[in-house]
Parts: sequence; structure tokens; C-alpha cells
Amino acid sequence: MLWIIVSVLVITTKGHDDFSIEEATIESIQRAFAEDKLTSLQLVDLYLNRIQNLNPVLRSVLEINPHARVQAEEADRQRRSNSHHPRSFLHGVPVLLKDTIATDDKMNTTVGSYALLGSVVGWDAGVVEKLRNVGAVILGKAILTEWYSFRALGKTPNGWCARGGQAQNPYVLSATPCGSSSGSAISVAANLVTVSLGTETDGSILCPSSFNSVVGLKPTVGLTRAGVIPVTPRQDTIGPICRTVSDAVYVLDAIVGFDSNDEATRYASYYIPPGGYKRFLNPCGLKGKRLGIVRNPFFKIAQGLGLAQTFENHLHTLRRQGAIVVDNLQIANIDVILNVTASGEAVAIVAEFKLSLNAYLRELVASSVRSLADIIAFNLKFPDLELTDKIGQDIFLAAQATNGIGAQEKAALANLENLSKNGLEKLMRDYKLDAVVIPRADASSVYAIGGFPAIIVPAGYDSQRVPIGISFGGLKGSEGKLIEITYAFEQATKIRKPPPFKP
Ligand SMILES: *[C@@H]1O[C@H](CO)[C@@H](O)[C@H](O)[C@H]1NC(C)=O
Ligand SMILES: *[C@@H]1O[C@H](CO)[C@@H](O)[C@H](O)[C@H]1NC(C)=O
Ligand SMILES: *[C@@H]1O[C@H](CO)[C@@H](O)[C@H](O)[C@H]1NC(C)=O
Repeated sequence: MLWIIVSVLVITTKGHDDFSIEEATIESIQRAFAEDKLTSLQLVDLYLNRIQNLNPVLRSVLEINPHARVQAEEADRQRRSNSHHPRSFLHGVPVLLKDTIATDDKMNTTVGSYALLGSVVGWDAGVVEKLRNVGAVILGKAILTEWYSFRALGKTPNGWCARGGQAQNPYVLSATPCGSSSGSAISVAANLVTVSLGTETDGSILCPSSFNSVVGLKPTVGLTRAGVIPVTPRQDTIGPICRTVSDAVYVLDAIVGFDSNDEATRYASYYIPPGGYKRFLNPCGLKGKRLGIVRNPFFKIAQGLGLAQTFENHLHTLRRQGAIVVDNLQIANIDVILNVTASGEAVAIVAEFKLSLNAYLRELVASSVRSLADIIAFNLKFPDLELTDKIGQDIFLAAQATNGIGAQEKAALANLENLSKNGLEKLMRDYKLDAVVIPRADASSVYAIGGFPAIIVPAGYDSQRVPIGISFGGLKGSEGKLIEITYAFEQATKIRKPPPFKP
């Protein structure tokens, strides 16, 4: 069935003058705009058409913005009248938002749950305001693992939410799409939109990007924020999920910066380089970069999955491109860091979640739920709607039982800080590293507890044709270096292939 749909699409994805949205980049779109071969409205219609055809199977798009076409027409008008100059790379470009990023429009912001359906946030998230200011088109909202998988850990299927059902991995439909930013990654991978935004507390951009053969950029905590349904301000960050590193960088340039609604953006905005990030799109960016290899446990995990050769080949490529590979390094206490119970990450997060979620819900302009307690009650009242019988809500209950940041939480936070200082920070300084190189998204907790940035790019496909990524992470504010490294790696390897929709 899907094979038929896909072959029909070959006809319908062509715009005027043979412009195709398959693997279209922001640069190719801007060129087509400039040469009058494409309008933003045509582009939006091509994507809407493709969503209509593919979304019944992929289920990655949760809502379409009823104003998307109007926004596209406005961008076209501005381009024709030559106003809004100089124009951003994102002008007239459709963007899909994870359904946790607030918008002040006809769309809902629900983290996939019926509990928040019909609530009114009353403002745009800081990143959305910035996107609108540069003339981007908000195409819609993407599905996610409901409540970031933070209602009952390990029990919410990745890519599933009550409102949208189960989203599918477009490479191998039966494979996991990972989460929680599943819909953002799937939609970009399947060419349902140009670019998307996801959010990450611990792995939620990196993992779905890895499993859907796309580029995921998790910015330093504080670089992008405010106006997102929270887990913890200590770890939450918003970042681009795109098909290429350069697309991710153009999006990053548009969404970073100080936001008066979020104190954390004040200090983090000092990390933003003058002129933005696009000057780091350097095809020779690997030259002289010192890259750390932490074999235990990360390359061992990859080896266990039959991926040893894939990653050894990539290390050769990195060396060939001029990087200095520093091998056999250790992150101190890595077993503890990767165990959220032992590290204290779980203890800290459940308490922080209750505080930050309650604060978010209190500020909504309208909502039938105003606290975590209300949401727990909602889940019990509508067990069929939210599959409460099957999935439960043990983390919600654990969070509800917390009482602010007490002695236990303070000890956990001190431990996390210590683990990070003696872990990645010490390693990076001792060996003067520019980045660590890690197969897949397996080091997400290392990046999470330190608020560190990371970028994941396509690294190959396993024996079942399921995509795999390779991640490069570094210290706070090191986005510039990570962009140089990942862009040069991507240009040297060009691994991404569009999805085959294998059953
Ligand atoms: C938002 O949710 C309401 C139900 O409360 C629904 O009627 C509406 O269509 C939703 N908006 C979009 C854009 O899907
Ligand atoms: C994680 O740590 C806890 C105690 O802190 C321990 O009970 C558990 O076995 C550890 N899990 C793994 C997978 O090592
Ligand atoms: C911090 O980590 C070091 C080395 O891992 C350890 O010796 C020290 O006791 C830790 N301090 C705290 C406060 O946990």
C-alpha cells in the first residue's frame, strides 16, 4: 500500500520548473525563491500534499497550522516587494514544531496528552517568536513520546502519544523511531517539511535523529529556551532537527539569543559568536581538531550491535580529514553517569519536574488542569483515553510525592555537578579536546547532566537497514567547533539516504 503511495508522490512532489521537495535544503529553496522557480505557498502546498499522503502511515505530524498558507503568502508578498531585507535564510521556509513548544495561534500545545487539549498558552515560545520575526512559516506540530516518556519511564512506547497514536520509523516501519522528539525527526527524514525543532532533557533530540538518519543539534542549555512544557530548566533545551548540518545551523542562528522570559538565556547568550554560527560551515573543519574516543562503554556497545567496523571506518575518515584522534580515553565514573538512579539525575529531575510543570500550568491563560495533581486525576478519570491502565503514571506519582528541593535533592544535584566536573569536563581539559566522538546517542546523560551541547549526524545503516548516527559533544558554548567537525564529516561522507519505507 505504502509503495503505491510513494510512487504517486514522485509526481506530486514536483513544483514549478522541476523543483523537488525531496531532500530540498534551505539553500536550494532560497535559490529557487530567488530565481522565481518556487513560491513559499507552492512549497507549503507540496508539503501539505505529501503529509496528506504519508501521514496516515507515519503519523508524525500531529496538527497542521491553519495559518500556514497565509504565512507563506505573506512571505511571498514580502519577497516580491523586496521588503524585509536582508532576509533570513528561513524566510518563507516551513518549520515543524514538537508539540511541547508553545504557539499563540490556533494550534494546541499538549505534549501529546489529552489533558492539555484545548488549553491556551497565550504566548509564543521564545524560539517561535524568533522564527516568526524572520518570516519562517510555522507548518504545524509534531508528535512525540507522550510526556517525554516522563509519565512512566520505559513504559510509554517511543513515538506514541494518546492524541496521535504510534508514529513510525520511515526507514523500517517496524523499527523504533526512538524519542521523545520522534515526530520532528520522522517528518524531516520523510521530507514532510524542510526543518523541525525538537527538545531534549536527556537524549530526546539525539536519539530520534540517530534512528531516522537526520542531523540533530542539542544546544548548550540556555542558548534556546522559554515557553516549552518543561521537565527541568537545568537540562531542557530546544534544538533543530534537519537533513543537513547547514540547515541545522541556519535554524540555530534564527532561534538562539537572550529571552527576557528566561534568565538562563542571559549568561548563555554570551556563547553566541558575533555574526552567528554559519561561518563555521567549513568543509576543512576537521583539520587539527582533537577528538577523544571513549571506547568503554560506547564503542563496546556499538560492537555488540555489529557496528564496530562502521565506527572504525569513521575514525579513519576523521584522521584522513586532518583530525587528531586521541584514543582509549575514560570518562571518570561513567557507569554512574549512565545510571540515572545512581547519579542522582532521577532524584533531582522528579522534584524539579513538579516545580517547573506546576509553574508552567499556573501561567496558562486557560486550562482545565493547573497542576501535576490535576493531571494525575485526569489520567485516572480517563484511563481509556490515556491508556493509564497499560502505561500507568509511576513517575508522575513519584514527582507528586516530592516536596521541593530538600536535602536529598541537594545532595543529588551536588553529585551531578561533581560527576560532570570530574567526568567530561576534566577529560576535555586534560587532553585539550575539541570534542568527544560517540556512536549513536548513548552518551546523552553525559551531555544532559552538564548542560553540554552535542550534534549527531548520520553514520550508516545497520544490517536491518535501520539508521545509526554518530555524535560529537563538547563543553558549554562549543557549538562552533562541533559545527566545523560535523559539517566536515558530513561533507566527507554524505551518508544520509531518503527513507525507503520498508515494511
Ligand atoms: C486544537 O484542539 C481543538 C480541540 O480542543 C481542535 O478543535 C482544534 O482543531 C485543534 N487545532 C488544530 C490546529 O488542530
Ligand atoms: C543503577 O544503580 C542502582 C543503585 O544506585 C542499582 O541498584 C542498579 O542496579 C544500577 N543499575 C544498573 C543497570 O547498573
Ligand atoms: C567528587 O568526586 C570526587 C572524585 O570522583 C570524589 O573524590 C569526591 O568525594 C566527590 N565529592 C562530592 C561532594 O561528591
